[in-house]
Amino acid sequence: MRKRGNDWLIYGAYGYTGELVAREAVQRGHRPLLAGRSERKLRPLAEDLGLEYACVDLTDAVRLREVCSKVALVFHAAGPFVHTASPMVRACLHTGTNYVDVTGEIPVFEKNFLHDKHAGKKGIALISGVGFDVVPTDCLSAYVVGKIPNAQTLRLAFSGLGGFSRGTLKTLLAHLHEGILVRREGKLVSYDSRLDRASDFRRHLGHLTPITWGDLSTAYHSTGVPDIAVFMHFMGNWAPAARIAWSVSRRLLAVDAIRTTALGFVNRRISGPNEHTRKTARSTIWAEATNPHGESAFARLETMEAYRLTAVAGVRAVERVLATSPRGALTPSQAFGAEFAFELPQTRLITDFS
Ligand SMILES: NC(=O)c1ccc[n+]([C@@H]2O[C@H](COP(=O)([O-])OP(=O)(O)OC[C@H]3O[C@@H](n4cnc5c(N)ncnc54)[C@H](OP(=O)(O)O)[C@@H]3O)[C@@H](O)[C@H]2O)c1
Repeated sequence: MRKRGNDWLIYGAYGYTGELVAREAVQRGHRPLLAGRSERKLRPLAEDLGLEYACVDLTDAVRLREVCSKVALVFHAAGPFVHTASPMVRACLHTGTNYVDVTGEIPVFEKNFLHDKHAGKKGIALISGVGFDVVPTDCLSAYVVGKIPNAQTLRLAFSGLGGFSRGTLKTLLAHLHEGILVRREGKLVSYDSRLDRASDFRRHLGHLTPITWGDLSTAYHSTGVPDIAVFMHFMGNWAPAARIAWSVSRRLLAVDAIRTTALGFVNRRISGPNEHTRKTARSTIWAEATNPHGESAFARLETMEAYRLTAVAGVRAVERVLATSPRGALTPSQAFGAEFAFELPQTRLITDFS
């Protein structure tokens, strides 16, 4: 029988992202318990990595508590999290087990922040978003906002996604109905391009398209800045076409029948970026904070491919939680400091517009 100590488990371990996290963990000397709802899928991975496994369905609250009570931390990698986070968070709160996940879903972040007091009382951390969405953007947000007094506006952009996994596309499809959101005066509202046309950020970066990204929740919690927008940045000669293709497909996928067909295609055909892409692709993140006095702070972060970063940052987040015991429902920058993202391997912080 396992004891808690520094033991931790990965739920959804045989998914695309869960397996990357499991392999990164083993490479760094960890021996996490692998968990998920299918023994058929768990066993081969556990045998390959020489790790123990536990089969548990999220609908079985009793068994879930039993499994969670054996470890000090749960790494939740099974999504869309809008369907999977609540039972796991409940089990962690009940058993006093730290919880981290790789969601990027705004309703999940917002719901987890409501458990702040409860988590604090239980002496545990609840940290959502320890992957690409939102570690680098959250840390960069905290950094630029800390550079000027009374920041009121925060703009973020990212580029260089080397491809999508099945789970990410299913999650994007699950949230399409929410539309394109921004945060204005502290509230989540629909994006209005008229408010954004003249910004320096847009002038410097060029081809941007707004996206509903986790930072609309987390950056607000990390920094308190009331006006936040997040964009995808398209580079190169194909940028205008790529931007239009993205906008058109988003509109088409809002139609139920097209979305159902797309979901079938995703289930059959999508497997996620391959190892070569994960090792060679790069991501860039930009952040700009401004205040009513006309001051601004800008920074750029160059880092690893998104899924590789998710595994690398995720395992380091586990190490930080186990070593420093943060308490409450926190964002990554609140839990680990803004430097957390900057200290990741193959990552470079640049503080001008060059
Ligand atoms: N924040 C980030 O930067 C970031 C990065 C990577 C991934 N993600 C998110 O992580 C999630 C997983 O992505 P992925 O690429 O790993 O997807 P995937 O390859 O499709 O794997 C999904 C995993 O979740 C499990 N799962 C799904 N629904 C479940 C449920 N109701 N109960 C129990 N297990 C369930 C699946 O198990 P079964 O096979 O048994 O269904 C599988 O293990 C997605 O939501 C994605 O958006 C976020």
